[in-house]
Amino acid sequence: AFGVAPAGAQAPYPNRPITVVVPFAAGGPTDTVTRLVAEAMGRDLNTSVVVENVGGAGGTLGAARVAQARPDGYTLLLHHIGMGTTPSLYRRLSYDAVGGFAPVGLVTEVPMTIIARKDIPAGNLAELVALVRQQREKLNYANAGIGAASHLCGLLFQKAADAPMTTVPYRGTGPAMTDLIGGTVDVMCDQTTNTTEQIRAGAVKVFAVTTPQRLPSLPDVPTTAEAGLPGMEVTIWHALYAPKGTPEAIVNRLSAALQAALRDQRLAARFADLGTAPVAQERATPAAAQAFWQADIAKWRPVIEAAGQYAD
Ligand code: MLT
Repeated sequence: AFGVAPAGAQAPYPNRPITVVVPFAAGGPTDTVTRLVAEAMGRDLNTSVVVENVGGAGGTLGAARVAQARPDGYTLLLHHIGMGTTPSLYRRLSYDAVGGFAPVGLVTEVPMTIIARKDIPAGNLAELVALVRQQREKLNYANAGIGAASHLCGLLFQKAADAPMTTVPYRGTGPAMTDLIGGTVDVMCDQTTNTTEQIRAGAVKVFAVTTPQRLPSLPDVPTTAEAGLPGMEVTIWHALYAPKGTPEAIVNRLSAALQAALRDQRLAARFADLGTAPVAQERATPAAAQAFWQADIAKWRPVIEAAGQYAD
């Protein structure tokens, strides 16, 4: 019939550029990871993979955009642990945060760092905790909205310090970092993919890494346990998703491209320089990502319900 091509005549996928939505501002940690992955995937797919930043509302605006996109393999989402926390944190969402996506594969797990403006009057983590206890809401804590990694880490830190700070939300920790460097906000907890270079340059003050071991990329920075907050450990997982309903053959082709990207030497070297690493190949698959994602939702639900902290 007119306008309908026989199935066998369909152009092979992909035959045009692919968009990957980053649900946070440009220049931040998710953006940094995504640009490296997108470039390397584009080489494998022989098309350009374009990054689009759709920031706001803790990553839910960008996620909604992809959940509601045509499931044809040309609109993807690269998102982090927020995919595990959002279904419990947000009581009203315009999209299905549990079932609205077809995972392509896990990408990386990123440590975090507790940092502050460089002139904050605290020389180590114990002094920072003491300052937070003394100044409380007079201190500003920057984050990327409810559901952001920086939000989660900030909650853990304020709980450990047993004192609240004033939250200043941004569309991503890229712009938050600019304000931290400028000294208009005081404290942040953010991923090493955004903080490593600023720490090395002395543009911000670092107090701890949130991992059980020190990082080769920041060997002089103590762990939270070494610095006096044992138990405050957090890493931020990232995965790639297509909208639910994307044909399995396309999801599998994307997973193969993701695996090729994660084997790329330049990508691995840059990840290492920023304190992280690609996941093992078998985790960059739809099944592994689906299992990990759903387990993370189940893990966070009781924690968030117990804390009683919701967004609407
Ligand atoms: C970002 O890319 O801006 C961050 O991942 C935000 C965050 O979750 O803290």
